[in-house]
Amino acid sequence: MNRLLQLLCICLLGLATTTVTFGSEGALMQAKVDLSNRESLKNGARIFINYCLSCHSAAYMRFNRVGQDLGIDEDTLKRDFMFGTDKPGDTMTVAMRKEDARDYFGTPIPDLSVIARARGADWLYTFFMTFYRDPARPFGVNNIQFKDVAMPHVLWELQGLQRAVTEQETLPDGATVERITHLELETPGKQSPSEYAATVQDLVNFLVYLGEPVQLQRHAIGAWVIGYLLAFLVVAWLLKREYWKDVH
Ligand code: HEC
Repeated sequence: MNRLLQLLCICLLGLATTTVTFGSEGALMQAKVDLSNRESLKNGARIFINYCLSCHSAAYMRFNRVGQDLGIDEDTLKRDFMFGTDKPGDTMTVAMRKEDARDYFGTPIPDLSVIARARGADWLYTFFMTFYRDPARPFGVNNIQFKDVAMPHVLWELQGLQRAVTEQETLPDGATVERITHLELETPGKQSPSEYAATVQDLVNFLVYLGEPVQLQRHAIGAWVIGYLLAFLVVAWLLKREYWKDVH
């Protein structure tokens, strides 16, 4: 009984710490991750390759693995998903040298293979929804989720540009600070706000897949395992009834 109580405490403690970590980062928007949606994953892969791979690598993933997992045949893969000299068996590396990246952006550019596991899907979704115009920054944009980020808003053509709506807040010591209340679309992009949200959703979906590609198979196998366990439960129960029927 004591052991059970200990176990329960550990589980509850685990839950509590997770809440604290997420809570301390501010309100996150919710990404609706759906790895069973192949079309969404394909669109996410297309966006990732077109808009991200010029700076970021995903060095633990190969093009042909993406093709296999998402059901893209090799010709389509080469035509729509790969550029230049990449071969289907190549990893998703980037031509830019680390030193150059540091010169251009003042910081090394992280590999994105496991970014969804490091940051979480909601964080990534919020990150791509909260770029706003800020002339004080080198690329003219800032980000609510990642303050003073050294990355340009690479999807600005799709989203357009948002501006921050602020209000003055007086602190207890009398000083006033400007606080961002919300973001407002200032210059519309090629996509409507709901289309852009869907695009970001697809991109995040793909990044989650990228972080753990085997999830697709794991989910498929999981259903069989649960089915087997349920069937086994019936057998075990029948067996138990058979064994104990003479005892009572
Ligand atoms: C022009 C180059 C460039 C492109 C293109 C680009 N990024 Fe970035 N990205 C950067 C740089 C530089 C940083 C580091 C920012 C910092 O540390 O302030 C960064 C940081 C990030 C981070 C935060 C990483 C962390 O520290 O947790 C994420 C997530 C990210 N990029 C995702 C993407 C995605 C997804 C795309 C494609 C839609 C993309 N980036 C396209 C340059 C780029």
